[in-house]
Amino acid sequence: MQVFSPSKVNLFLRIMRRREDGYHDLASLFHVIDLGDDMELEVLPDSAAVDVLQCSDPTIPCDERNLVIKALNLYRRKAGVSTHFRVRLDKRVPHGAGLGGGSGNAATTLWAANELCGRPATDAQLLEWSGEIGSDISVFFSSGAAYCTGRGEIVEDVPPPLPLDTPLLLVKPPIGLSTPQIFRALDLGRRSEEDPRGLLERMAAAGKLSDELTVNDLEQPAFDTLPELRALQERLAAEGDAGGQPFSSVFMTGSGSTIVCAGADAAPAFLSRETAYSDVFVSPARLIVRRPGEWYAAPAGG
Ligand code: C5P
Repeated sequence: MQVFSPSKVNLFLRIMRRREDGYHDLASLFHVIDLGDDMELEVLPDSAAVDVLQCSDPTIPCDERNLVIKALNLYRRKAGVSTHFRVRLDKRVPHGAGLGGGSGNAATTLWAANELCGRPATDAQLLEWSGEIGSDISVFFSSGAAYCTGRGEIVEDVPPPLPLDTPLLLVKPPIGLSTPQIFRALDLGRRSEEDPRGLLERMAAAGKLSDELTVNDLEQPAFDTLPELRALQERLAAEGDAGGQPFSSVFMTGSGSTIVCAGADAAPAFLSRETAYSDVFVSPARLIVRRPGEWYAAPAGG
């Protein structure tokens, strides 16, 4: 079974409090996007006692540390099946990027494994189980646009707040950021004070992104950790798109290090012209949703 494994952006991300268990309660508008990996899952013969994962990126571990293997182990335990799988993973989404690429792989694995086993579990069960693997996996079981709270695993479907064809440009420096490290570097005294429900309402009413709305409380620790990232954000905001038009907003997604530019997707010339940026990952992206009972479709032509 061939299946598309999407990624996500956080259109805003507020950190509400630090919890006793070491996690943080957050309130974030997540949106699934069409930058994704290709996956292929196949059922192994009954005699197989382990899953086999093959990944196009040799730097990614293919053992129990991989979220795909964690998802398969969880699926067997929860669904009460003993099936093992061969999984091929063709990576396009960078890691350490704040794009939830690995989380998307885990969600896609749960969905595809359930299809291949004849759908013993409902979507609602897959959503509930997925919270045990990581905080931002459940969002992929939403319609594609979701207001998420708790650790990120409490998912409320919302209508897409922006036209799905809103152009986005993703720009990620070669250095990735580690989510736990960024949460540790977060200074709760330096957060924004925006009411997240208010942000949601204002974004839906505006129908477009602006810097007042794309608040991300993790920019502070990410920019403290990687000052070049703030410089990159400022440069993108100053230069605008390929034609010199300003982006409607330039903001970080998740715990970084991807900077999202909204309103245009033609990259400014400095990214390809200046050697300092030669290793930067640059990709256009679009917001996507899914129909109930279906998974996300790969973008046309790619
Ligand atoms: O849940 P996940 O494995 O994606 O989280 C990775 C790490 O990020 C956690 O171990 C925790 O340090 C931090 N985190 C957090 N609060 C969240 C989500 C993640 O502190 N809501």
